[in-house]
Amino acid sequence: MGRMLAEEAAAAIAERTGVTRHRAAVVLGSGWQDAATEIGTPAVSLPMVEVPGFGSPTAQGHQGTIHSVAVGDTPVLLLMGRRHLYEGQGPDQVVHGVRTAIAAGATTVLLTNAAGGIRPGLRVGEPVLIADHLNLTGRSPLAGAEFVDLVDTWDPELRSLAREVDPSLTEGVYAGLTGPQYETPAEIRMLATIGADLVGMSTVLEAIACRALGVRLLGISLVTNLAAGVTGAHLSHAEVLAEGHAAAPRLGKLLRGVLERL
Ligand code: HPA
Repeated sequence: MGRMLAEEAAAAIAERTGVTRHRAAVVLGSGWQDAATEIGTPAVSLPMVEVPGFGSPTAQGHQGTIHSVAVGDTPVLLLMGRRHLYEGQGPDQVVHGVRTAIAAGATTVLLTNAAGGIRPGLRVGEPVLIADHLNLTGRSPLAGAEFVDLVDTWDPELRSLAREVDPSLTEGVYAGLTGPQYETPAEIRMLATIGADLVGMSTVLEAIACRALGVRLLGISLVTNLAAGVTGAHLSHAEVLAEGHAAAPRLGKLLRGVLERL
């Protein structure tokens, strides 16, 4: 696994789409799949299983497709689904999608996810810009001695640009855990204490891999539920998908607006 396999995957995408360089990529996570239709009609769609290194995503609500879409004159890759540590995948598999997108030409990557809202005031159905993250997975996609600076990993200019599209957006710190179990109320109190506003099971390893490869990163979490213990309600993946479905038009317009301004 690693950069070589990503090059192979990128070559397959170029061959199948006829596009040698896709300038940007969007990873659509749980709850974000429906937003894709707002971004544009895909010129070409590829099942991930047909692209080297991808396999088929098993998370419910992930399509497992790669779309090539033109936004204005910009060719964009939409990765409809991602790999997670909780599927038993290693960091290399988890970041294969973003490494492939970068090998395919992407210099800007948009990472989306579903998250539990920890900070008081966050509302279900609200997209929140990721301003910073806590990698609490205990894992890294970087093998060997590679020291990578993570200051401004979540590009401040891209966040401003997103706020031009939707001025009501707030920002937060995303804590990435391994899952697949949701957190306990005690864990959520701990996460609040250490500075997390949002909690989820993805994104942080992809962000590190993107940063190591020098691309510009924007992250958006959709608050699909309030985190464990905030209300006393029980958590379910069905609720995560339902909230994504409801928010899809707003999320899609936001992503399209950002892509149009790149
Ligand atoms: N916790 C972890 N991951 C999540 C949550 C949550 O509350 N909601 C959506 N993904």
